[in-house]
Amino acid sequence: MSSVLPRPRFSESPLSGTTLTSPILVAAPSLLAPEVATFAADLARSVGWVVEDIADPEGACIRVQLDEGMHPEGFSIQVAGIVDLVVGSAAGLSYAFGALRQMGPAVLFGVAQELESWTIEGFNFYDEPAYEWRGCHLDVSRHFFDVATVCRHIDLIALHRLNRLHLHLNDDQGWRVEIPRWPRLTSVGAYRAGSPIGHENDDVRDSVVHGGFYTADDIATLRRHAAKRHIQIMPEIDLPGHAQAVLAAYPQFGSTTESLEVWTHWGISHHVLNVEPATLAFAEEVVCYVASLFPDSPIHIGGDECPSDEWAESPAARAVMADHGFTEPAQLQGLYTSRLATALLASGHEVVAWDEVLDADVVEGTIIAAWRSAEKGIEAAARGLDVIMAPEQVLYLDVLSSDDPAEPVAISPLPRVTTWQDVYGVTITPPSLDTSLHHHIRGAQVQLWTEYIATRDHLDYMAFPRLCAFAEVVWGSATSIEEFRPRLEEHLLRLREFGVAFRPLN
Ligand code: ACM
Repeated sequence: MSSVLPRPRFSESPLSGTTLTSPILVAAPSLLAPEVATFAADLARSVGWVVEDIADPEGACIRVQLDEGMHPEGFSIQVAGIVDLVVGSAAGLSYAFGALRQMGPAVLFGVAQELESWTIEGFNFYDEPAYEWRGCHLDVSRHFFDVATVCRHIDLIALHRLNRLHLHLNDDQGWRVEIPRWPRLTSVGAYRAGSPIGHENDDVRDSVVHGGFYTADDIATLRRHAAKRHIQIMPEIDLPGHAQAVLAAYPQFGSTTESLEVWTHWGISHHVLNVEPATLAFAEEVVCYVASLFPDSPIHIGGDECPSDEWAESPAARAVMADHGFTEPAQLQGLYTSRLATALLASGHEVVAWDEVLDADVVEGTIIAAWRSAEKGIEAAARGLDVIMAPEQVLYLDVLSSDDPAEPVAISPLPRVTTWQDVYGVTITPPSLDTSLHHHIRGAQVQLWTEYIATRDHLDYMAFPRLCAFAEVVWGSATSIEEFRPRLEEHLLRLREFGVAFRPLN
């Protein structure tokens, strides 16, 4: 009980406990059969145990009840001879099974391990999350991660009771989703001729082609896997900036006569989409197509870091500025934001954008991902917009984990460091935010930008244990570093069984 992570939020009292052996008989409403099947698959894989879904609660060792009056992600666990689970939804059952597995030996997270019996101490708790948006962002543009790796990452974030995966699907350095009507986005835009070696500032590059992309079938596989783990995938198509891979494929959407390649540098390319009607129409078509692959997901339309120097120099862009009465070229970005947001909202999607869109009018209903600072989240909430907190000062996991010179090269040099202790100290809802606006804070997410993360092991290293600390904060049950540390140490034994190449605590 003591090492369940995230820590349960509400009361617990010692009861008589139980010992489970294979086969485990589970009685659950038929509606919840998929969650029982996932639990069975997890136990079969880890310790070769059998879980049988039986109809009659009499004789079951785990009994499940659905209580639709409960918080939608809530669950209670009572272990007193029999394990009784009461859950608010299928997600709640998935969390309850997850917490139960954490009550057992770490081998339950491994593969093909031996386990005779599984003793669970007596306990009784009710749990529900403090925030409904508990996310992890993953940049698959700077480095492409295949379907299997993303599915594994989904398993890992689900194990921490996060519920959203934000996939950053395009950038200057690569376009990662197949669009049938615009095939060059992937035939050209998904591959770059090389990548920086060491830090971008060293200005050394290899000439190894890097790339890859997801087909519609791949996306369907990712979505199915995510749904099984109660993770919602939010795709991001980041336009009109971060568009050099698009322009390598379709130069007509840019402002330069220079022939562009998919960028082999890290940083922000100043080549952005032009503001011609055909280009706006292209952006809308592509974003809406991607949205159609994710029918019930919020769609992230990017909107960060869009240089406007090409627009300032372009007579065509200046004419569009004049038409709209704009005084600054940067205001042109609002044409993209409002067009994409309006189209997506009309098709029933929620819309998320990076906080730079606050610099112009924002379509009502847009959710702001506050990355430049927590203050941007406060500004958005004050404007009546919902917010996902993602401040780079603490929730960017691409920065150094410590000041040890042996840390792998990361995006920013020393002294910029984010330790797991720093992450554990985060306050999601800014204390200075007026309480009447707290409801605008939907939750938070950590970001894994991958300029400097090329392999699965390195992804693990940057994500864990900082993500473990984040998970407990965003669940709403963080305590103190001293109380958390021994639980984290025990939790890392599970991650080791899972095969996670986490960064050691010391
Ligand atoms: C960002 O880090 N450019 C959102």
